[in-house]
Amino acid sequence: MKVIGILGSPHKNGGTAQLLISALKGAEREGAKTEFLSLYDGEVKPCVGCVQDEEPTCKFPCIFDDYGKVILEKIHEAEGIVFATPVYWFAPSGPMKNLIDRMTALENMVVFGEPSYLEGKVVGAIAVGADDGGAYATGYLITALTSMGAIIPPWGIAYSHKGDQAIFDDKALMDAINIGLLIARMVKRLKGEAVDLTFQYDPKLRDAIRKEVISELGLIKDSCKLHAKKMLMLDKS
Ligand SMILES: Cc1cc2nc3c(=O)[nH]c(=O)nc-3n(C[C@H](O)[C@H](O)[C@H](O)COP(=O)(O)O)c2cc1C
Repeated sequence: MKVIGILGSPHKNGGTAQLLISALKGAEREGAKTEFLSLYDGEVKPCVGCVQDEEPTCKFPCIFDDYGKVILEKIHEAEGIVFATPVYWFAPSGPMKNLIDRMTALENMVVFGEPSYLEGKVVGAIAVGADDGGAYATGYLITALTSMGAIIPPWGIAYSHKGDQAIFDDKALMDAINIGLLIARMVKRLKGEAVDLTFQYDPKLRDAIRKEVISELGLIKDSCKLHAKKMLMLDKS
C-alpha cells in the first residue's frame, strides 16, 4: 500500500512538516510504504481553466509539464494521500491551492466517460498556523477532496496553532498520527479486510513518534530547544 504526504509549506522542518511526517509514520505502523513530497521543490503553475473550454480539454495528464505534473502522477499512483498545509490567511498556502486546482485534471476524467481518478483514494488533511484558521484550511481541503471523489476516513483532519512547535502539541500530534493510521486502515477496509476504524489514543506511540521526528528533523536546537530539553530530561527520569 502506498501513502504519500504532500507538504505545502516552504519549511521542511516547520510545524506542518512535523505533523505530516508524524502522519506518515502512523501509516507506516500499519504497513504502508510512504513518500514525502514538498510542493516547494519545484513549480506548481496555477490552473488555466481548460475545463471551461467549449470542447473540454482538461484531462489527465495536465497540459503543464512542470513539478505539478509530477505531483499529479504521484497522486494518481497512491492509494492514500495526506495533504498538509500551513495556514496562510485562514486558507491553505498558494502552492497547495494551485495543486488542488490542478487536480481538476484527475477529477475531470468523468467528462471522458471514466470515473474521477480521485475516486476511492483515501485522503486526510493537516494544517498548522500560529494563531487561528486551522479548521478553515483543513475544512477547505476535505471539502474539495470529497467533491473530487476521494474518501475521508474518520478522524481525517488535524490542526495545530502552535506554529513551529506543533510537534509538542499533544492533541494535534495524536490527531496527525491517527490520520496516517486511519488512512492505511481505510485502504485495507476497502480491500475487504476486517480492520477497525477507531481513533487510537496512545500516548506511548505519540511520544515515540515525536522523538523520531525531533531527531530526524534535527529540531533539538533553536526555537525547539526548551521543549526538546524537557523531553530529554523526561527520558532520563
Ligand atoms: C502569508 C502568511 C499568512 C499567514 N496567515 C496565518 C493565519 O491566517 N492564521 C494563522 O494561524 N497563522 C498564519 N500564518 C502563520 C503560519 O501559519 C505559521 O507560521 C505556521 O507555523 C507556518 O507553518 P510552517 O512552520 O510549517 O511553515 C501566516 C503566515 C504567512 C507567511
